[in-house]
Amino acid sequence: MHVKQNSKIATKSSSTRTVEHVAIIMDGNGRWAKERGLPRLAGHRAGTDNLRRIIESCVELGIKRLTIYAFSTENWNRPKLEVRGLMRILEDVLDNQLQELHENNVQIHHIGRLDGLSERLANKVQSATSYTRNNTGLVLNVAFNYGGRDEIVHAVKRIVAEGYNPEDITEETINRYLFTAGQPDPDLIIRTSGEIRVSNFLIWQGAYSEWHFTSLYWPEFGPEELRKALDQFQKRERRFGMISEQVS
Ligand code: FPP
Repeated sequence: MHVKQNSKIATKSSSTRTVEHVAIIMDGNGRWAKERGLPRLAGHRAGTDNLRRIIESCVELGIKRLTIYAFSTENWNRPKLEVRGLMRILEDVLDNQLQELHENNVQIHHIGRLDGLSERLANKVQSATSYTRNNTGLVLNVAFNYGGRDEIVHAVKRIVAEGYNPEDITEETINRYLFTAGQPDPDLIIRTSGEIRVSNFLIWQGAYSEWHFTSLYWPEFGPEELRKALDQFQKRERRFGMISEQVS
């Protein structure tokens, strides 16, 4: 990965809107492969190559956080071969790209559950997060074995187990028990492949996120497309339930 760090080209506009946190539903690998007469896993491999380009761009643009939806709690229901392939891809990335990510000051964070993953893979995920813990560049949240509802159930169980008085539970309390505890909500969530739905991704954190939908399949959504999505984001007015005059 050869990147010019922190050129911050598209993250600020004259309206000073910053894109601190981008999240992506990397959809359409299967259809991309099918249209080319390739097996679905070839689509996921192409998607992984693209992910690398997008991470490079995020580092270059000075985006602080990128959250990627790599494997959902529902993806376990896919054919065994595909599930195994996706596990293998994560393992390959951790084996072959961790050092490069580290050298680019990327901090890896896992969101989701480690149970269900093989012990070997779970250990590699944990090692990657602790190896990059002190990095100060892009925070890369890898949502793997992640589901938004599952995350909320997990948070509620921990809150109850800690004996909270119901009167004391606020939105802030819930935030503290999510996998993304301590992190700002995504500003922009991108979904590729033409599907227009949330699919259990960051359902709490995305309450006020802006969405960008594109019909491109994930392997086709390159750095130029990311830039376009960021440019469009800069032109939007985020009102958070208020009126225009209050936010301008
Ligand atoms: C959705 O496309 C994509 C996934 C379920 C997997 C996304 C994974 C990658 C891009 C690889 C990178 C992964 C890691 C772990 C670093 P789809 O398969 O649902 O596509 P379709 O809707 O066209 O079938």
